[in-house]
Order: sequence, then C-alpha cells, then structure tokens
Amino acid sequence: MAVGIFDSGLGGLTVLDAVMRRLPEVPFVYFADSAHAPYGVRDAQDIFELTTAATGRLFDHGCDLVILACNTASAAALRRMQESWVPKDKRVLGVFVPLIEALTERQWGDNSPPREVAVKHVALFATPATVASRAFQRELAFRAIGVDVEAQACGGVVDAIEDGDMILAEALVRSHVDALKRKMPTPDAAILGCTHYPLMQDIFQDALGADVSVFSQANLVAESLADYLTRHPGKIGAGTESAYLTTGNPRKVSDGATRFLRRKIEFTPA
Ligand code: DGL
Repeated sequence: MAVGIFDSGLGGLTVLDAVMRRLPEVPFVYFADSAHAPYGVRDAQDIFELTTAATGRLFDHGCDLVILACNTASAAALRRMQESWVPKDKRVLGVFVPLIEALTERQWGDNSPPREVAVKHVALFATPATVASRAFQRELAFRAIGVDVEAQACGGVVDAIEDGDMILAEALVRSHVDALKRKMPTPDAAILGCTHYPLMQDIFQDALGADVSVFSQANLVAESLADYLTRHPGKIGAGTESAYLTTGNPRKVSDGATRFLRRKIEFTPA
C-alpha cells in the first residue's frame, strides 16, 4: 500500500506533509528529482522525459497511483502521459484541478458548463514553463467565465529554495509580486501555482496585502486524494513502506527537507 508523490525537488513536500496528515494510514513514497531541478526552465519534451522516468521508478516501488506534486510537470507533461504513456493498471494525477475547483467554487469532479464565479481578477505565480503552457488558463476556462488571469513567471525562486537561500528567495518573490502588480494592480485572488511557493506563503501574502486571498495547493490536493482513494481503494498500490528518494545528493536534500518540514527526513538515492 503506497502512493507515490513526485516533484522536481523539495516543493512537493508541502503536498506530502498535507496528505500525510490527512491520510496517516497510507504509506507514501516521495521522489525528488533534485539532480534535474528546476524543471521550470526546461522545454516540454525534456519535462516529459524526466517526469516519465521518475514516475516509472515510483511504479517500481509498488505505487499504482502517482501524484505529480509539481505544477510544471502537471502543466507540461501530464496530459501526454495520460494519453500515451500511463499503463492501464496505473494512475497519474496532477495538482492543478483541485486548485481550480476550489477557486471556481466547485465540488470535486463537477464537470458542468463554465459559469460566473466570485473572483474576477486572479494573479497566477508559477514557473516559466507552467506560465508558457497556459494550462492553468485552459483548465479555468472549462469551469469559469469572465475571470481575468495575469500570470507572472517567477524565474529563480525554485533555484533559491533548492539552494536554501531564503533571503534571495524572499527578494525574488517581492520583485515578482511588484511586477505582477504593475500589470494587475488589484487582484482579488492569487494562486501559488508551484508547490515550492507555499514555503514562501507569508512573503507572498505580505507583498500582496491582506485583502488578497492566497490559494495554495497542499490541503486541496490532500482532500481530493482522500476522496479519490475512498472511491478507488484498489489504487493504493502494493508497496508497504514509506520512503524518500532523490536523484540528487541525499545529505543535502535531507537537510533541506528537514529544515522545511521541521522534522527529521532521510532521503536515500533513487
Ligand atoms: N514544484 C515545482 C512546481 O510546482 C517546481 C518546478 C521546477 O522545478 O521548476 O512547478
């Protein structure tokens, strides 16, 4: 019984933490492709190849269900994976849809036609590859009408977080929020469309101001995973052990993870 959680690096730990709290009885295998992070500056083919390689390793670890806790992989590779790569007995889900359902006030899996929603001006903060894919706008258009989205590609933030340079990460977040506000002075909601960004949530909120509702994915993904596993209990795979795997330097990645989650995390080589 194990569910795989994938990210290019440490960001998916924000999702892992929430799903572990929501589903304490489920073992999770976390895969950080740290040797290849950041994904956000890569092209779609590259992201597809790296994400399929990592997901295949999670299948090998007894996971029948893998959550791409990475917006960049969800935006640039997930649809192609589902159409042409995922074996019939496995399932790969992304992190976009639960967020957009929350933003558009929908219940899980409500596929009714798009309608007007409360938010009108939405700021999207994401990696350059996620912004370029326009996947967020596409998913939003299926569910809501009349929502103006301004996207800000937040170059450098993932690298700074992976390097543990939180002073640089904060400076970059503040400058990206300023750049967004020049294009959209008064957003009513902001989406943290990269799983690394909740690690900087207080800085985003401070820079945006208290009036802006900041949506991040961790708890939303945890709720929708719990709902999915209730409906598909067989998708908890054969693995029984939780594990933390990385393609990077296990010592460095363990130190970063321990700092972020404030508990001891030991990564082993993938
Ligand atoms: N956490 C990943 C995401 O949600 C970061 C992508 C990257 O490696 O640039 O997009």
